[in-house]
Amino acid sequence: MKKITKVVIPAAGLGTRFLPATKAQPKEMLPVVDKPTIQYLIEEAAAAGVHDVLIITSRNKRAIEDHFDRSVELELLLQEKHKDDTLEQVRAISDMANIFYIRQKQALGLGHAILCAKEFIGDEPFAVMLGDDIVHSQTPCLKQMIDCYETYGGSVIGGQSVPWDEVSRYGIIAGQDVADNVKRVTRLVEKPAREEAPSNLAVLGRYVLDGGIFPLLEQTKPGKGGEIQLTDALDELARRQSVYALNFEGRHYDIGNKLGFLQATVEYALRDEQVSQAFRRYLTDILEQEIKK
Ligand code: G1P
Repeated sequence: MKKITKVVIPAAGLGTRFLPATKAQPKEMLPVVDKPTIQYLIEEAAAAGVHDVLIITSRNKRAIEDHFDRSVELELLLQEKHKDDTLEQVRAISDMANIFYIRQKQALGLGHAILCAKEFIGDEPFAVMLGDDIVHSQTPCLKQMIDCYETYGGSVIGGQSVPWDEVSRYGIIAGQDVADNVKRVTRLVEKPAREEAPSNLAVLGRYVLDGGIFPLLEQTKPGKGGEIQLTDALDELARRQSVYALNFEGRHYDIGNKLGFLQATVEYALRDEQVSQAFRRYLTDILEQEIKK
């Protein structure tokens, strides 16, 4: 079985759900507490032992490249001021992974963004992580995915059950149980209406994919929203090869919408050593007061 050494992170989207915040800055750079969201993903990949990261970017995404580059001036300044901890933190960001970039020239959808990785990946299985999904878990979510791939082979899609009134926001999985938390996928539907959803098990931004996905992506016609959907290519893949769905352990945040973003901010702040105590007190106090508009 081939080892997973590469992960693709699509970050080319325009971030229209988060305007005006994303008008001039990539949504992947919006911070949750003190880290840009994309850094959470790269830390998760590194913790899962995956160090080659391909970020699919587009115009106006330079801040991502700058963030993972060395920052010589800043490092010198921190050195002069003897801020050793901060210096170490800043340097660690650029040493975290080998990061590569490819530009998606047109916003034709997630499937098309993944297709841009074809030459970089070649014929190997690889991982995909989506920037709107961050997961707080004991075992890094991507590690759980890779363990599942190493047990069952094929491709693996990470998901969890969501409330039925939210199924139309996600790719939805139909499948047959092969273990407590693993299904063999029989069908996938991108953002179905509640009445048409075959289950409430949603795709939540983590995949381990066989290289066989690329020829299918090349043939995939625009689907939901007029975009080339990864879900549609995976539905086809599941008819030809084994595709599994792993119900991963961990707290998932959908930071692509306002409420999910706020939930992540509050919960990560409550886990942050520096601010958690004071923040907890603040939350308790503020809930007792009436906030005026
Ligand atoms: C994408 C996928 C969808 C998945 C979701 C969350 O949708 O197309 O299948 O459920 O991410 O991981 P998006 O939220 O980018 O519209």
